[in-house]
Amino acid sequence: MKLESLPRFRLAEFPTPIHHLETLSKAYNGPEIYMKRDDLTSLGMGGNKTRKLEFLIGEALEQKKDTLVTAGGIQSNHCRLTAAAARKAGLDCHLVLNGTPPEIPNGNLLLDKIFKAKVYFCDRKDRDKRLFQVADELKTAGKKPYVIPVGGSNSTGSVGYVSAMLELSRQLDDMDITPDAIVFATSSGGTQTGLTLGAKITGFNGDILGISIDQTKTGPDPFPPVLTQIANATAERIGSNIWMTESDFSLNCDYLGAGYAMPGDLEFNAIRDLALHEGILLGPVYTARAMGGFLDLIQKDYFTKDQTVLFWHTGGTPELFAWADQCRDAFG
Ligand SMILES: Cc1ncc(COP(=O)(O)O)c(C=O)c1O
Repeated sequence: MKLESLPRFRLAEFPTPIHHLETLSKAYNGPEIYMKRDDLTSLGMGGNKTRKLEFLIGEALEQKKDTLVTAGGIQSNHCRLTAAAARKAGLDCHLVLNGTPPEIPNGNLLLDKIFKAKVYFCDRKDRDKRLFQVADELKTAGKKPYVIPVGGSNSTGSVGYVSAMLELSRQLDDMDITPDAIVFATSSGGTQTGLTLGAKITGFNGDILGISIDQTKTGPDPFPPVLTQIANATAERIGSNIWMTESDFSLNCDYLGAGYAMPGDLEFNAIRDLALHEGILLGPVYTARAMGGFLDLIQKDYFTKDQTVLFWHTGGTPELFAWADQCRDAFG
């Protein structure tokens, strides 16, 4: 496997810890719940994008680029971590964010500013076009931009989660536990493709269950073909001959609620449960939705009491501060 020889720029210390959530497991009287703490990756308030960015920035540096350009929502965790990682790697960072800037920047947007990223605001419909326009403007100005797709989800970024699965496999051996399932938030796909491919490589037999934050299985932009495309490109990148099809991906799209970045009772109840039972924080957009879905599945007996499930915490806690109004209403 070529993974070890791919260019990589170290951004954090790994492995991230695995915690046994004993109080939550007891409260739900369901499977034993463990949590892989990728919210604790040691860069710019943590999160799953750190792992992808190690390989993306490795490639950018190898190509002698000097500026990272990427895009996302106004509260994008991916953009915040790209801004943080750019600082560590000595690169400039330009962010195309869809949304209306608030009077006072908060949450991830505040952190983008602290990391001194150059921010451009646009409508959602113009975002992809604007991303490449910004890259062209930078080229014209004599810079060498490296464009990272939304969420860092291409074959380069996804390698970060293949590597994460190899890391997990070693930890599970040491801890002598064999989860029946791994549950996590999925959105642009790089986390899910990396984990699913990594599971095939390591021989992990449990379910790799992505709880969709905003993607659907059918409709004009179905998610499974996107997952398949990224996974196969990732396999090729690391020199693996594994070939994946849509049926290799386990995806639950039942918890889309009122839409992307529109948290409701499901998310706020999950935030409350994790805070009060375990002292662990979730972000309202991604991890609270995925945890809310997971806890609902436990209540519906999707998992049995004798099973073990690992929830992969992918970060996003700075989102909390951007939803302070709703948090105040939910938590008093
Ligand atoms: C906190 C958090 N969790 C999960 C995800 C989903 O990861 P992916 O985009 O790789 O599907 C994201 C994406 O932005 C995220 O910010």
